Amino acid sequence: MSDFVIVNEVGPRDGLQSQGRILSIEERLLMIDALLDAGICSIEAGSFVSPRAVPQMAGTAELFSRLPLDRAATYSALVPNLRGYERAREAGVQSVAVVLSATETMNQRNINMSLEQATAVCAELMQRACQDGVQARAYIAVAFECPFEGPISPAVVEYLSQSMFEAGADKVIIADTIGAANPRAVGQALERLDPACRARQISCHFHDTRGMALANVLKALDCGVREFDSSIGGLGGCPFSPGATGNLATEDLVLMLDSMGWRTGIEPLALVEAVQRVQALTGGTLGGHSFRWLERQGGAHV
Ligand code: COA
Ligand code: ZN
Repeated sequence: MSDFVIVNEVGPRDGLQSQGRILSIEERLLMIDALLDAGICSIEAGSFVSPRAVPQMAGTAELFSRLPLDRAATYSALVPNLRGYERAREAGVQSVAVVLSATETMNQRNINMSLEQATAVCAELMQRACQDGVQARAYIAVAFECPFEGPISPAVVEYLSQSMFEAGADKVIIADTIGAANPRAVGQALERLDPACRARQISCHFHDTRGMALANVLKALDCGVREFDSSIGGLGGCPFSPGATGNLATEDLVLMLDSMGWRTGIEPLALVEAVQRVQALTGGTLGGHSFRWLERQGGAHV
């Protein structure tokens, strides 16, 4: 089996969407430059959602028109509905991610749709993306626990994942939106999915709210998963999920993978400067568990 693990950076979307400080397009581009300079080449750059619901993501069409296309990176965008998909297509987006939450209440709060409506709309968007030659990805959000409805049965995650694959999804991202997963729950959810599918078509998205994100990554690796979302400096949260704090920090993920001999194409020390540059843009204190140690290894530039 390949020793390469894809690290998909979600800071410019999941990270920024919950920040009190709204970054300008120029600042969002500077953030993406910092990520590219660190060797990150898979980036969720923004979302095409209502600017009233998520003002931090207003202007994503302009952002996409100004992304550096000469940097050998792939950029994706989250789309919540048909309107978002069409806006993304007009902006030339080549990879979209829909968000299907595992519960009724979370879909209502997040995208104002019932679970049934959200499943149908996400399936339609996956089909549209396939027809249009656009990479189609589906998040299964609150896949372990919902802040409103509590623990999620692995059978629900299996059913929703299958629905998305049947609609043509290239990848399904199992997302622990509020950081409530633990390694055993990760194993129980992943073991229901076909092993070949886990290796090629499943990605995991963990938040580090309860300090278990890396343990969850390790379990997912053992189950064959080879792609993970993370956010630089642990920036993140979801404005519609009470208690959702930082994402798994990219530097923690890359350092652990690198130490274990997995290849990511990213040099852990190069992430120190990226954290510092993004911290200067967002104004808050950033850095995962390993950040201070990485800084002391000489990655610091300030
Ligand atoms: N992008 C921009 N505007 C959109 C839109 C989109 N994808 N979808 C709908 N709108 C606009 C409509 O045009 C309408 O605008 P108007 O009031 O100026 O006419 C307004 O939003 C309401 O439209 P409606 O279809 O009734 O949407 P809604 O109020 O049911 O909201 C969402 C649905 C999905 C747009 C909204 O809930 C949303 O953006 N949620 C954000 C989800 C998110 O980013 N969560 C975090 C990541 S998981
Ligand atoms: Zn998230």
